[in-house]
Amino acid sequence: MYGVGDASFVAAGGEEGIVRLVDAFYDAMERLPEAARIRAMHPADLAVSRDKLARFLCGWLNGPKRYQEKYGAISIPGVHAHLAVDTAARDAWLACMVEALDRQPYADDFKRYLFRQLSVPAERVRNRE
Ligand code: HEM
Repeated sequence: MYGVGDASFVAAGGEEGIVRLVDAFYDAMERLPEAARIRAMHPADLAVSRDKLARFLCGWLNGPKRYQEKYGAISIPGVHAHLAVDTAARDAWLACMVEALDRQPYADDFKRYLFRQLSVPAERVRNRE
């Protein structure tokens, strides 16, 4: 019953599990050749990017609203509006997420569920062909 109450937050391993997922996500972004262009959109030091994404996903999965606590309100398309995110950039972001999910001790159906769910905001971030 992912998506009901905090089921997804719990399935993701809570805050510690989400931090591990986000670390694996940005590690994949440093490694994957197809992600070089989106890596270059980020600051050289990814510490704040890691903190922001982990905090965002915590609330997005119906856990505590950690992003708002520290950084305030957020619009996902809005914070990416200054970036040129085309289909290839969107797919590179999702490819990093596949790599990261592969490395987590999650149930396979939760990995598939989370990937499908994340595809929705990823498509909303895309702002050109
Ligand atoms: C679709 C492809 C995506 C690309 C290429 C991308 C790229 C980026 C980049 C380059 C930044 C850093 C911006 C900066 O420092 O100026 C960023 C920030 C961020 N991204 Fe993404 N992103 C994508 C999708 C997503 C998705 C789907 C989510 C959420 C599920 C997300 C969540 C965030 C958050 C929370 C931040 C921090 C925003 C802030 O507080 O400044 N991103 N993204």
